[in-house]
Amino acid sequence: MTALLEPTAKTSPGHGAAFTPSMYSLSYSPDRGWHDGQLLPLADLSLHPATIGLHYAQVIFEGMKAFRQPDGGVAVFRPLDNARRFNRSAARLAMPALPEQLYLDGVDQVVAADQGELSDDPDHSIYLRPLMFGTDVNLMLRPSENYRFLVMAFVAGGFFGDKVEAVSVLVSREHTRAMPGGTGDVKCAANYGPSFVAQRAAQEAGCAQVVWLDSAEHRWIEEMGGMNLFFVRGNTILTSPLTGTLLPGVTRDSLLRIAARLGYGVAETKLSVDQWRADCASGAISEVFACGTAAVVTPVGAVRDRDGDFAVGDGGMGPVTARLRRALMDVQQGRSADVDGWLHHVRTR
Ligand SMILES: Cc1ncc(COP(=O)(O)O)c(C=O)c1O
Repeated sequence: MTALLEPTAKTSPGHGAAFTPSMYSLSYSPDRGWHDGQLLPLADLSLHPATIGLHYAQVIFEGMKAFRQPDGGVAVFRPLDNARRFNRSAARLAMPALPEQLYLDGVDQVVAADQGELSDDPDHSIYLRPLMFGTDVNLMLRPSENYRFLVMAFVAGGFFGDKVEAVSVLVSREHTRAMPGGTGDVKCAANYGPSFVAQRAAQEAGCAQVVWLDSAEHRWIEEMGGMNLFFVRGNTILTSPLTGTLLPGVTRDSLLRIAARLGYGVAETKLSVDQWRADCASGAISEVFACGTAAVVTPVGAVRDRDGDFAVGDGGMGPVTARLRRALMDVQQGRSADVDGWLHHVRTR
């Protein structure tokens, strides 16, 4: 018998598969610069097997979300900050800069064309995925001369499902994500493939995510999967400083500013795993949460580690986490004043 959905149950689009129908495409060549921008139906690409990006990982990407606004319009959260990070990623990978306005035009065109895919469900958003890769067909070990920029999108529900529940995490002792002088502070494809084995180890240990430590001393907490981490100590929220080996998250920056405005102390201070464990045991750290475009703000309830597992607070979502999560979503969804000018309203007709 076919299972019927309860009338009140809602289906989640998940994260990463409910693609919208359009994509934006723009090409780069040394003689023409950026050219041939066009909105196209989302479709397969035809690539020569020697396309340089497939071999030498000259591939960068971004992630942003567009939200339905109370007036029925749609706004993208801080896309200019992502455009700037995209260009830092491009510079690191010897790729050409993309003028911010061209980046925003591509985003606007996809959102304007596909915003009808977004329901009024506040848990849903349009996740935008800009991508740039080297297209030269040549296997010499050198940077590509020609590039393609694409923007595609999917309708997103919650990254960890539509319910907000605390996740458990495994501290990775075997693998490191980034090293000084490497690419940890930019968003290139080559940072992610090598993380999957650690992510799989976390899942095998019954955890949702992996926590990355620094590569030199293997003690300092850097970030978690594709998210930045925050620790609540009394009235202060603390996160790792931007050491060059973790991604400067747009959500991280937004929460630092929102928290300061709400009267919390904010600190960008290194924290070791040992201190994390001791502070959870003493109650000095009462809450921990991860943040990112995909995960928004997600509480961390339990930690598995070689040197001993431990719980954070009562293992659920604490009041500071809940308050900051709500404050961030209120800005994104247009329920509170956009005092920082973070919303980029897209003209839909
Ligand atoms: C490694 C990593 N850290 C942190 C983040 C969070 O960044 P943001 O808040 O800009 O999404 C991401 C996601 O982009 C990421 O991939």
